[in-house]
Amino acid sequence: MDHPRGLAGIVVDETNISSTKNEKLTYAGYSVEEMAKAHASFEEVAFLLWKTRLPSKQELDDFRKDLVSKMVLPAETIRLLLYIAKEPQHPMSILRTTTSLLGTTNDVDHDEPPKILAKMLTAIAAIIRIRDDEPFLEVDPNLGVADNFLYMMIGKKPDAELSQMFNTVMILHADHEFNASTFTARVVASTFSDYYSCLTAAVCALKGPLHGGANERVFEMLMDIVDNDEDPIDFVKSEIARGRKIMGFGHRIYKHGDPRAYILKGIAERLAEQTDNMGLYNIQQQIADYMLETTGLHPNVDYYTALIYHCLGLEKETFTLVFAACRTSGWLAHVMEQRREKTLIRPNSVYVGPTGRSYIEDTCVKEAL
Ligand code: COA
Repeated sequence: MDHPRGLAGIVVDETNISSTKNEKLTYAGYSVEEMAKAHASFEEVAFLLWKTRLPSKQELDDFRKDLVSKMVLPAETIRLLLYIAKEPQHPMSILRTTTSLLGTTNDVDHDEPPKILAKMLTAIAAIIRIRDDEPFLEVDPNLGVADNFLYMMIGKKPDAELSQMFNTVMILHADHEFNASTFTARVVASTFSDYYSCLTAAVCALKGPLHGGANERVFEMLMDIVDNDEDPIDFVKSEIARGRKIMGFGHRIYKHGDPRAYILKGIAERLAEQTDNMGLYNIQQQIADYMLETTGLHPNVDYYTALIYHCLGLEKETFTLVFAACRTSGWLAHVMEQRREKTLIRPNSVYVGPTGRSYIEDTCVKEAL
């Protein structure tokens, strides 16, 4: 085969939004590690991704207020959500339907990215609350976007430290150049389909365990180890011996470590200390050390978020919803960029099936001839 599988290494287009060049993640030229260390807020990063420049103080205040004011859902959306969020399907399937639903109960032709991002965050928080049998919470105009999203999910207003940590989690997930879900969104955008259709398709791609769904699988692995009182290394050895992948390890781009994972590791440790989950953190550490030593694979973004979301009190099935909420900012940035580009994405394939067959000779329906 003289062409790469899965578009690996193929440049499909240019972007001004983010880059993973030299295994360093940057948003519009700014190092994401630097922004995380300096405690950039989610709304500042969303503004950066959409406009490829940082906002002024006034612009940031206005942007935050605008987003927060839009974190409300029409009554008919809430009514339908109360019904569909309770369905037994996986919460990512609920989110897929919900994203599409937002495009039916809102104005698909005129809704702008701030409104769409705000509604996605509220809808995701609502799905989680409804499934937990908790009352739906209204947005608090005194809180920022990330704080409101967290509050509407878990029902507690974060203190300053948690607010900082959660903003960091959100900005680390906000964008990642042409990852599978973003590329999916861009393909749909390239046909000039509407924003909600692009996001619905992106949610479908994110759902899979090789992409966003990995965080849930990481937690399942931790629970398997704890519930069966297994030695973490023996568990990993036996999984690898069976030809299985260890979730939360490896990356298509980062072969020397995912820069996001190192920052998330610190947050996971801090939250684990605060919530009596150091046992799980220590298991993760043992596995990470063993994986690096024996396979050279580093943890990726999903490895430590599994523990972070657990410490926040979320059910494992809802972990990928939080990823989707953060990544909606990046998806929208890419959809806007793709719409400006006006080029249909339509690649070629190499046909490797049989050739030169005769329908007349091979068909079973001879009498129709
Ligand atoms: N556990 C065990 N082995 C792994 C592995 C993992 N998590 N990730 C990759 N490998 C191995 C593969 O088996 C393969 O080995 P081989 O060459 O002997 O066949 C090799 O490393 C290359 O892996 P490949 O899947 O071809 O790399 P990729 O760049 O296409 O895949 C991922 C990247 C993310 C899909 C892959 O690392 C993976 O499936 N990880 C687990 C899922 C996950 O955590 N996803 C979240 C990504 S952010």
